[in-house]
Amino acid sequence: MIKPILRITGLVLATFISVPAVAQTKALLDSNTRFHPVISSTGMVVSQEILASQVGADILAKGGNAIDAAVATGFALAVTLPRAGNLGGGGFMMVHLAEENKTIAIDYREMAPADAFKDMFLNTEGDVDNLKARFSIQSSGVPGTVAGLIHAQENYGKLSLKQVIRPAINLARNGIPVSISLAESLASRSGRLQKDAATKKYFFKEDGADYEAGEVIRQRDLAATLGRISAKGAPGFYQGKTAALIVDQMESTGGLISLADLKGYKAIERTPVCGDYRDNKVCAMPPPSSGGVHMVQMLNILEGWDLQALGHNSADYIHRLVESMRRAYADRSLYLGDPDFFPVPVAQLTDKKYAAALRQQIDLDHASRSEDIRPGLVDTAESTETTHYSTWDQWGNVVSNTYTLNFSYGSGISVAGAGFLLNNEMDDFSAKPGSPNGYGLVGGIANSIQPGKRPLSSMTPAIVFNPEGAPILATGSPGGSTIITVVMQMVLNVLEFDMGIAEATAASRIHHQWLPDNIFYESGLSADTLRLMREMGHILNDKPGRLGAAESIHSKGDGVLFGAEDQRRHGSGAVAQP
Ligand code: DON
Repeated sequence: MIKPILRITGLVLATFISVPAVAQTKALLDSNTRFHPVISSTGMVVSQEILASQVGADILAKGGNAIDAAVATGFALAVTLPRAGNLGGGGFMMVHLAEENKTIAIDYREMAPADAFKDMFLNTEGDVDNLKARFSIQSSGVPGTVAGLIHAQENYGKLSLKQVIRPAINLARNGIPVSISLAESLASRSGRLQKDAATKKYFFKEDGADYEAGEVIRQRDLAATLGRISAKGAPGFYQGKTAALIVDQMESTGGLISLADLKGYKAIERTPVCGDYRDNKVCAMPPPSSGGVHMVQMLNILEGWDLQALGHNSADYIHRLVESMRRAYADRSLYLGDPDFFPVPVAQLTDKKYAAALRQQIDLDHASRSEDIRPGLVDTAESTETTHYSTWDQWGNVVSNTYTLNFSYGSGISVAGAGFLLNNEMDDFSAKPGSPNGYGLVGGIANSIQPGKRPLSSMTPAIVFNPEGAPILATGSPGGSTIITVVMQMVLNVLEFDMGIAEATAASRIHHQWLPDNIFYESGLSADTLRLMREMGHILNDKPGRLGAAESIHSKGDGVLFGAEDQRRHGSGAVAQP
């Protein structure tokens, strides 16, 4: 048995005990990198908030599997990372089950209430009322998180629901020290958040002052809500007291979610979208996320070039990324939506021949203009805060989970008495064709609002497999529209450029989404590269920004796990199973 290698504030302390430790040492030394991952030969959890990662790692140590750890981490993040961890939102979970050698995709995306309708966010002039779509009580879809986590736990966990939810209840009831990141994120949004009396009560001091880092925040109503879920499972949220609190609030403030909507909510198991990238297999979320379809589509285009020879983040490489992204996001605007309501042409979009046709259109020396690019298929009908985490156990089960309230702290409205924030995911629908949502994304009929429909997402929890079929990478990211391109660059950094996971995570990223026609980029690209991009005709954002936050676990398929938190978000953490 090998003890995990511990990393304490940048120091690497290794405890090597037996033969496989040699492989660990070699891997660490071979990596020849300035970026060091956390290493374990048992299990690991990587999330955006280190207390929640520790909860998951402790569950692994208690004999839980990756699914138990993921569910425990998901509930813990609802307490420790309230801007994105949630009970009132939704998301997607990719699960690889080692024994059955099967990978599934759990869709627990929010759903439009039965009373929702296509033009519900249009004002009398027929324009989109963005405040209503993003910050009103009507901006919330029926929450899916509790149904999704419980579906995973009941079907694939080893421990009991009570065991995996207990740490979250304790954190909420006993309180957590406010991290620098939590203090900063609440203080910077206090104007918006204090407009709602319940949110003000839950996340600010009695006199309305901000919490300072290091002070303790207790969430007693949230602890009670978690307690009802622990006692009764999904009905402890979708029926009974919590459901009544949600509906009372809806009825008194003009919200649309009814008891029937809550009772009728179901998590859905779907078949992942998978594609071959050279010898590896890349699997990610199918619709109603656009992540899997477009990541596979872009990888199919990129596979036709010798990217290694171009060099990581060279102008020629970035040019190919951008032109692939431009075309994929154009397609997203027309063809992607909830597959239960719209026939999404997944097979055509992920077809290698279609990718080859798109590749043919790309001029290797000059940027194209987005206004000249239209969605490409011819034969079919016509910030933000999310959070990702990955878990991996000693048996080879892997979970890659992304969930969200949409914006930071969702709509900003909490369910009074129940202690949790509501999502503003209805803004991910296309409220009007061509009118951009909060991420600048446009859409049409495929993603129009309909009762019971799930809004189109970009969340891209992904699991990558080696040619032998063993999982080698679990990754994903927040970042709204940028998620798909961030996750794809993680995959390329590992598969194509052979980077260790910490280096792959730290590497500078770029993003293009067709509209607006400009490249978002991070610091770290050289002035020469930026100049060459401009000379090709690319339009670059005025200044660099920050793209995504990937929380990933990598393995070479030999049981040794390498984890890296993304330091773009302060407070994240990779924790090895103790
Ligand atoms: O589902 C989506 O695509 C968005 N609601 C995700 C929002 C998000 O990533 C915010 N995070 N930074």
